[in-house]
Amino acid sequence: MTELRIAVVGTGLMGADHVIRIGKRIVGAHVSAIVEPDESRAKSAMENAPEATWYPDIETAIEAKSMDAVLIATPGQFHEPVLLPALHAGLPILCEKPLAPDEESSLRIVDAEVSGGKQLIQVGFMRRFDQGYMDLREHIASEASGELLGLHCAHRNPEVPDSYHNDMLIFDSVVHEIDVVRFLTDSPVTTVEVKHMKRNSLSPTGLNEPILVLLGTESGVLATVEMNVSVQFGYQVKTEAVFQRGIAEIGRTSGMSRFFDGAISTPEHMSFKTRFAAAYDNQIQRWVNAVQRGTIDGPSAWDGYLAAAAVKSGVAALHSGSVEVVKYANKPSFYN
Ligand SMILES: NC(=O)c1ccc[n+]([C@@H]2O[C@H](COP(=O)([O-])OP(=O)(O)OC[C@H]3O[C@@H](n4cnc5c(N)ncnc54)[C@H](O)[C@@H]3O)[C@@H](O)[C@H]2O)c1
Repeated sequence: MTELRIAVVGTGLMGADHVIRIGKRIVGAHVSAIVEPDESRAKSAMENAPEATWYPDIETAIEAKSMDAVLIATPGQFHEPVLLPALHAGLPILCEKPLAPDEESSLRIVDAEVSGGKQLIQVGFMRRFDQGYMDLREHIASEASGELLGLHCAHRNPEVPDSYHNDMLIFDSVVHEIDVVRFLTDSPVTTVEVKHMKRNSLSPTGLNEPILVLLGTESGVLATVEMNVSVQFGYQVKTEAVFQRGIAEIGRTSGMSRFFDGAISTPEHMSFKTRFAAAYDNQIQRWVNAVQRGTIDGPSAWDGYLAAAAVKSGVAALHSGSVEVVKYANKPSFYN
């Protein structure tokens, strides 16, 4: 089988990491095009993609027939303008989360895919490819500890740039939990409520966090999410599941513990790049294999839409302080 030629669109923090991953660890594919308006970022990414050609925009890259598939890693608000031309060109797409930052553009993307008649879009909710989340989902489904009653999730970043604003707490960060709570419970998020903890004075000006998000699900399972982006000490994503007869926990840092000088220490991640390295590798390898078979293997555009609909209620809840009910459009039979 010939190698899959991938165009990576957007080579900032995440895209540049994907370029390295495809070059070093992914089998059966290489980066054939870097699509990036910022020349210095493009050049730096190309150091890890010797076979790639640089294009400043997606239209020129498509015109040059420089790829068989597209990996989109532009910021969320710039997903739709690069995704639609790729979709119209009939190219398989792995689009970083969120599919789009709002419900309306997510539905437009879904409609465009349905009109094209073939499922081409996979969304980069990579936690579904993390071993801990996969094990927990299996454990929940097995009911080995009894019925699942609730989930406690924590998502902590050491810091965020000044450009990160309040709504991003929901549409850029909590969106991961919104997707993964449905993945774990097989039940859609039906309500969202947001409470503020005491503000961390180390947060960037204008950012009011940490927040506590309550996600109600159709099954009755309640999930609490601590979203905390200025913790300074490291990057942590954890979940504790509460069952009738037990507790299960994922995301605790493992590795060498050091007993020294009157203290016990274990290193903590500082970035999503290391915390989820194996999940990103797994996600992209499985996507490459699926594209070779003409399909997808992971969250679909419809999953991206469902997350966007819950995000809409989440942003409303952040502003209103009330419990917001999530409303979903009817699922097109195309996604059954
Ligand atoms: N799955 C995860 O854990 C995870 C982690 C971080 C980021 N992300 C996602 O990855 C995406 C990118 O985030 P980031 O932090 O790397 O952003 P970034 O700002 O660091 O990089 C984005 C890049 O896209 C480029 N760009 C903007 N518009 C473009 C266009 N029209 N065509 C081509 N390139 C364009 C920018 O010049 C920039 O280099 C976002 O969707 C984000 O949510 C996912």
